[in-house]
Amino acid sequence: MTPEELAVNGGPKTREKPWPTIADASGRDFGEEEMELLRQVMQSGSLGYMYGSMVKQFEQEFAARHGVPFACAVSSGTAALHTAMGALLLEPGDEVITTPVTDIGSIIAIVQCNCIPVFADVDPMTMLIDPKSIRERITGRTRALLVVHLLGQPCNMDEIMAIAQEHDLFVIEDCAQSHDAKWDGKDAGTFGHFGCFSLQQSKQITTGDGGIVVSSAPDLADEAYRFHDKYYDRTGGGRPVDRFGMNYRMSELVGAVALAQLRKLDRIIGRRSETAEALMAGIDEIPGIVRAKVHPKATHTWWRVACTIDEDELGADAKTFTRAVVAEGLPLRVHTARGEPICMAPAFQNYAAYGSSEFPWEPPYGRRVVYRLEDYPNTNWAMENVWTASWNEGFTLEDVDDILRGLRKISDYYRSRR
Ligand SMILES: Cc1ncc(COP(=O)(O)O)c(C=O)c1O
Repeated sequence: MTPEELAVNGGPKTREKPWPTIADASGRDFGEEEMELLRQVMQSGSLGYMYGSMVKQFEQEFAARHGVPFACAVSSGTAALHTAMGALLLEPGDEVITTPVTDIGSIIAIVQCNCIPVFADVDPMTMLIDPKSIRERITGRTRALLVVHLLGQPCNMDEIMAIAQEHDLFVIEDCAQSHDAKWDGKDAGTFGHFGCFSLQQSKQITTGDGGIVVSSAPDLADEAYRFHDKYYDRTGGGRPVDRFGMNYRMSELVGAVALAQLRKLDRIIGRRSETAEALMAGIDEIPGIVRAKVHPKATHTWWRVACTIDEDELGADAKTFTRAVVAEGLPLRVHTARGEPICMAPAFQNYAAYGSSEFPWEPPYGRRVVYRLEDYPNTNWAMENVWTASWNEGFTLEDVDDILRGLRKISDYYRSRR
């Protein structure tokens, strides 16, 4: 049978209809639950967390769900990471090892604490930080690891915690993309000193913008709480302001939506998992297209879905595949439009944090770490060879069938011409 003509060659598109998106109600689970709690906040007249109960309730339920004693709600995922970093009280020029495949928010938290980000390479198939590469980048100034549970999949926390113990390092887990993900059955965010979550519009649960920090270490948790609220003593104890913190407080209106969303987390993850896993199982049946690797100990919660190709089996290279996928109207894209490890951005190359200085990369505080493309071979490969699609709870099994139909069409076409 002659394979169907591809849209990239002038054939019909696999799909014209828009996909459900995180940008609006088509891909988000908002309803009466949020409206009811918002109504309660407005009727109470208390919009600030000091006076209301919604943010406190959200913190309590989030902590209980994660089996930790402490949670502090904040205004964004970046604020959550900055609060965690701030609580570590590191010295200017101290180094924090992290990943070059992340949002700039992870790095802002490091640099705004006057610390130097050092990047380890990643596993090419998962894009998760590679513990072996972490070991290679540890120096006498390394104080912390900031690891990112990417796309909904947790990092290898057995190996990361072993490295941290060996070298006496703090561990911050960036869970912005990985609500409810688990490593070996234990919640992502509860292994290290802090777990930091984002509630930005695209995340598994959302308030548009927002975040939350969890911890099981009482002293660090207390420091984080004070950091997020200007180091004011809200206990009535009269302790004076003894450091410079931030105002990252969450408002009661945001708290109301956060609480309603948290109570729906199981349903949301259930829907995402059903469709994402159906997609992965379908991809297994398509020659030349390879589902992204999920570690057997990982519970993935599908912020995005991912795949790669086997160029030899498919009979097409990465660029050809990308053009075909876009032309068919499928939602997959090469993972990042920037196409480079994050540290190749001008902010890093110019050490542009504080005025015209190169602080904290300059002596006497720190060292001038050089960020070079060739130090991240796996990241570079992944940037060109991993395709991801933003996933959401609005996707149906019919949508999955459409994506699979498009991928099968592309596979049949190129394989027939090998
Ligand atoms: C991995 C990661 N870290 C940090 C952030 C920052 O979160 P926010 O946008 O809520 O500040 C995001 C989200 O954009 C993210 O995906």
